[in-house]
Amino acid sequence: MEGRDIQMSKVVVFDHPLIQHKLSIMRDKHTGSKQFRELLSEIAMLMVFEVTRDLETEEVAVETPICTAKCRRLSGKKLGIIPILRAGLGMVDGVTNLVPSAKVGHIGLYRDPQTLEPVEYYCKLPADSENRELLVLDPMLATGGSASAAIDFIKKRGCTHIRLVNLIAAPEGIARIQKDHPDVDIYVAALDDHLNEHGYIVPGLGDAGDRLFGTK
Ligand code: PRP
Ligand code: URA
Repeated sequence: MEGRDIQMSKVVVFDHPLIQHKLSIMRDKHTGSKQFRELLSEIAMLMVFEVTRDLETEEVAVETPICTAKCRRLSGKKLGIIPILRAGLGMVDGVTNLVPSAKVGHIGLYRDPQTLEPVEYYCKLPADSENRELLVLDPMLATGGSASAAIDFIKKRGCTHIRLVNLIAAPEGIARIQKDHPDVDIYVAALDDHLNEHGYIVPGLGDAGDRLFGTK
């Protein structure tokens, strides 16, 4: 009997010592907004360095001062990054420092504190998003409702090459994305234990948006 391929998102956890060290400082409740922001940006850069490992390249000839060298340059789809507002904004600089040509779209979503359901308030994507390799950025994947809704919006605009990059994920969020978007691979720096009764990740780092922008 022939087996059927069932597609399932790949989940990659980055256990690199530098990432884990920086994340431990971000988790600390005594870490202030300035350091929190810097670390989030640094970790986003380190993560995306790995996430982009499989980008296509082509051979080009480059004239060095000595001779012609066979080199490799990026050749495949261009990159687009889509931070989920607000907290995803904290990951943008780290990624654009690494890939300056990446275009940036924004999706504004907040999680209703009562229902924990995502509420959309803004969406502006690059005009050629459907031709780009897209990275959706958000530090926190809790219930997965926000990321799933963001990916829905992006797919409705014809985009097909989408990956999700989170700092910390709860198992519930991973399961939600795998169910709703089995074609979207998930990259995280840590897979935490569970959600508490308020939908916060345990142990987590608290409210990423508030810690990033100092709003609480
Ligand atoms: C946080 C976080 C995610 C969402 C995760 O944003 O940045 O977007 O919650 O939760 P979920 O997986 O259960 O949807 P929040 O709604 O607090 O908005 P903010 O970034 O504006 O603070
Ligand atoms: N949003 C956050 O910012 N933190 C959590 O732990 C869950 C959702």
